[in-house]
Amino acid sequence: MSLVIAMDGPSGSGKSSASKGVARALGLRYLDTGAMYRAMTWWMLEHGVDVEDGEAVAARAGEAALVSGTDPNRPTIEADGTDVSGPIRTREVTNAVSAVSRVPAVRERMVALQREIIGAGGIVVEGRDIGTVVAPDAPVKVYLTASEAARAARRAKDLAADPGASVEVTQAEQARRDELDSTRKASPLAKAADAHEIDSTELSLDEVIEAVVRLAKEQY
Ligand code: DC
Repeated sequence: MSLVIAMDGPSGSGKSSASKGVARALGLRYLDTGAMYRAMTWWMLEHGVDVEDGEAVAARAGEAALVSGTDPNRPTIEADGTDVSGPIRTREVTNAVSAVSRVPAVRERMVALQREIIGAGGIVVEGRDIGTVVAPDAPVKVYLTASEAARAARRAKDLAADPGASVEVTQAEQARRDELDSTRKASPLAKAADAHEIDSTELSLDEVIEAVVRLAKEQY
């Protein structure tokens, strides 16, 4: 497999900025798999599907037409031809995404789409199960972590436009999402045995990018 960099880790660990930065530095494509689960969740909410009803979600998992752009300078995601890059970041979607992403039929569809996009490689892929399930043969696997407080502060910044999103509220919602994402039956958030763990709490974004680029260069 040519270069595939799997970047897994919990929300707020700095995965997205680091993954885009690494893709730019190495001239690779970039895939945000979280955006795909979010787009699927947006679609379910838009179609009035009760996201807590796993059977209802599974029954409609095949319907949404999702298209992911892979340019790290302009990541896009479309659902049924509509650019949903903005709407997938709302708290409504953020708080519903764990329920949708634990449904096996959703995961099967997402993994198939992701493998198609990864294709022959040349890509940085960020998510929760990339090194364990989606691309277990990826030559570079990173598991990015950060302290809970650092992660909550980053998330609150992402949601700065939302007046209800104080650090406390964000921290509580994040803890709930992490709990759901790491305890679900179908491919939970997990560090692959051969992943390199990087704790970004005390590192700048550039330092994280440099560390991953170094790992990638060691492979080639
Ligand atoms: O990275 P993110 O916060 O945008 O991801 C949104 C949700 O999608 C996250 O709560 C769990 C789910 N997800 C997943 O189950 N598997 C992935 N590979 C990526 C995301």
